[in-house]
Amino acid sequence: MSDSVKLTRRPEWTALEDHRASALLDPSLRELFASDPGRAERYVVRVGDLLIDYSKHLVTDETLALLQELATATDVFGLRDAMFRGERINVTEHRAVLHTALRAPQDAVIEVDGENVVPRVHAVLDRMSDFAGRVRSGKWTGHTGRRIRNVVNIGIGGSDLGPAMAYEALRAYTARELTFRFVSNVDGADLHEAVRDLDPAETLFIIASKTFTTIETITNATSARDWLLAGLGGDKKAVASHFVALSTNGEKVSDFGIDTANMFEFWDWVGGRYSYDSAIGLSLMIAIGPERFREMLDGFRLVDEHFRTAPAEANAPLLLGLLGVWYGNFFDAQTHAVLPYSHYLSKFTAYLQQLDMESNGKSVDRAGRPVEWQTGPVVWGTPGTNGQHAYYQLLHQGRKLVPADLIGFARPVDELDGQLAAQHDLLMANMFAQGQALAFGRTAEEVRAEGVSEEQVPHRTFPGNRPTTTILATGLTPSVLGQLIALYEHKVFVQGAVWNIDSFDQWGVELGKVLAKRVEPALTRTSTSAAAAAGDVPGLDPSTTALVA
Ligand code: F6P
Repeated sequence: MSDSVKLTRRPEWTALEDHRASALLDPSLRELFASDPGRAERYVVRVGDLLIDYSKHLVTDETLALLQELATATDVFGLRDAMFRGERINVTEHRAVLHTALRAPQDAVIEVDGENVVPRVHAVLDRMSDFAGRVRSGKWTGHTGRRIRNVVNIGIGGSDLGPAMAYEALRAYTARELTFRFVSNVDGADLHEAVRDLDPAETLFIIASKTFTTIETITNATSARDWLLAGLGGDKKAVASHFVALSTNGEKVSDFGIDTANMFEFWDWVGGRYSYDSAIGLSLMIAIGPERFREMLDGFRLVDEHFRTAPAEANAPLLLGLLGVWYGNFFDAQTHAVLPYSHYLSKFTAYLQQLDMESNGKSVDRAGRPVEWQTGPVVWGTPGTNGQHAYYQLLHQGRKLVPADLIGFARPVDELDGQLAAQHDLLMANMFAQGQALAFGRTAEEVRAEGVSEEQVPHRTFPGNRPTTTILATGLTPSVLGQLIALYEHKVFVQGAVWNIDSFDQWGVELGKVLAKRVEPALTRTSTSAAAAAGDVPGLDPSTTALVA
């Protein structure tokens, strides 16, 4: 990997700058489509069940070729191969990055330090399947012999967002007789609301934490244990049948009082934000069952294989990653909207925020030198139709360029029927209409032709040229969800590789943790002494000292 040449001095970079400045100074999607009748068919890539239409982007064949040259120059595929081989490409933590091993087939060989990790992955999957089966069938009972009816996952960040998002996404496939809750916030209200209507005798807590040291999770887990013991008469033995752990840290799990026989492990080569297809997905596996979970893994694997083997011009994660580079670095777009047209994907964008922003929100390169180019965007969005009646105004007529992904499904989930299934057409009509309006807008002439008065014309004109990617699948199945997540994982990878940053560490979250620990003792004193105590906290700035007081 040649990372010694500064990105912005590479000829491939300056070629893109020139291209942006001349040929695409004022790109018009109307013109691009008019001058190229084959564009709509050509600018589509299919991977697995996903159809990805990138025709509504401010690009030409030349742009795409130049972007691919940048990918070659920055050796994106070299880094990709190193990742799949298990090399320690997370340079600051000196770790391999092998979430792809979590969905590797049983006969694959992927070595870390000379050990094939695939058998361990499948051993844990088998244990998870056995446990999930026992909870689902009622064979796993609580301390009083009652069957488990409620599953509460306690975790934060990657130990929460993945299972919570996927549970929501695949609700139609879940065991409806079980209740699932996800607790992450250290605000006691989160746990309170999650358990207030549950019977402790029927409740299983899954404590999900890679490190098992995360203060929010350990605090909530401790409170959950108190709640359980208070509800079950205080017998500490109850913990064994109501608490399981998902972690890489057996020692801390056992310190907490959870028998490591009830721990499902994963490994330091799985980043938190890449972990919901590991043991961290146990709550999801209980919800949808082991078979569906494996279908989801197959979906991930399908896109892994595509990313590993498809040629550059048809490689979906590469294309999406490069399009993001194009807007972020050459149009100065600061954000990227992800707009799913599916109620079931209501947590999808929140999940992607961690995946993308924790991975690529960096300002030094892999060698620690400051980078002088834009890195990861602000990722945001909510389900599309709701957004249309809120912030889409800015997307259509605001002064900011916001590239967006529109994600939709040809069919509603099977569970919907009658009128509710019929509403799906209206949902999809909205998605298609938005893509069209954003791309092609409405000219002043078109507005005038509708008889609009002259003073209203500027207000009712839409400039268009707002780029979108449309991702379509037939239906939202476990496999399709796996495909979508892997697509975004590898897209984020591509961008980090081009920008030459370490997409797999997250040092930026550490300072806040350290300072919170410093401030907390002052807050836990009585309010009068807290004021005085705030003054004693070393390293507290005057503003924070005053707020604490
Ligand atoms: O603080 C950030 C972070 O480390 C994330 O990267 C991670 O997903 C989350 O906290 C939770 O960490 P853990 O699973 O170790 O509790």
